[in-house]
Amino acid sequence: MLKMIIDCDPGQDDAVNLLMAMASRDVFDILGITTVAGNVPLALTQRNCRMICDLAGCFNIGVYAGCDRPILRDLVSAEIVHGQTGIDGITVFEPKTPLQSRHGVDFIVETLLAAEDDSITLVPTGPLTNIAMAMARAPAIIGKIHQIVMMGGAMREGGNFSPSAEFNILVDPEAAHIVLGCGRPVVMAGLDVSHKLLASPDRLAAIAAMSGAVPEAVYHMLNFFNRFDTEKYGTEGAPLHDPCTIAWLLQPALFQRKLCNVSVETASPLTLGHTAVDFWHVTDKPKSVHWLYDVDVEGFFDLLTRKIAFFATRDGCHG
Ligand code: BDR
Ligand code: CA
Repeated sequence: MLKMIIDCDPGQDDAVNLLMAMASRDVFDILGITTVAGNVPLALTQRNCRMICDLAGCFNIGVYAGCDRPILRDLVSAEIVHGQTGIDGITVFEPKTPLQSRHGVDFIVETLLAAEDDSITLVPTGPLTNIAMAMARAPAIIGKIHQIVMMGGAMREGGNFSPSAEFNILVDPEAAHIVLGCGRPVVMAGLDVSHKLLASPDRLAAIAAMSGAVPEAVYHMLNFFNRFDTEKYGTEGAPLHDPCTIAWLLQPALFQRKLCNVSVETASPLTLGHTAVDFWHVTDKPKSVHWLYDVDVEGFFDLLTRKIAFFATRDGCHG
């Protein structure tokens, strides 16, 4: 079993990623889920995460609220993409899944300190504030990390929230600088792959055809999510960013990757949050990032559809 902590800011695409993980508890030991301010403020990301746990019937995973703002900067949020709730498309309800009293950063620090070296996979799909704060608070956790499988950054695709920067990195570039420099292996799924994974109507039709609360919720969330991005990009569907992380963990052969150095711009007002991917190894900076640069699109949607179908045939998730 792969032991993991998911750190997220749901967000419709974070929500789908969480559901894919919860459908895979035969291979994933989800130690807890931490939430961060990002797409919407923390009070909403933690509530949204607990709603997804309820929908999936996963009542035995702890949800922890972490940092409510980036390390040095004011929060930039993305209601324009995700709607005022962060997961517009479904009706908000008060979840039964409780919010744990421990701070998310404390949960990460204490869980990692108690673990064996090189044993825990971190899966961040929002700004990296919680992970960076945990590393700054207790550097001894770094050796406990097996790998960090994250969504963030861009090379060939440019930026989606500024001309140069992808949203998760732009919101907290200092946090990204700390995490990418930690020395542990990082798998980075950025816009170069996620922009190929469009939730087009024909792909969503397969989910619409399934019965059950989860497929229904996924269909309606992604329908909403499509609204802004189809207009912005002139495409048939919005890119499914965050599900790249769980897809990579389940089926790495779906992706092409290259070991590179990735550095983050933290000073320039023009290119703040830009990820400089040394794809052609033109520097001798240390290479610790597996940069994902291509993806088998149909294979990805086959996997996604199978994982959502898990909930069409069962009442809740394993465990
Ligand atoms: C990332 O930003 C957020 O809006 C999405 O949830 C995803 O994590 C894509 O740039
Ligand atoms: Ca996200």
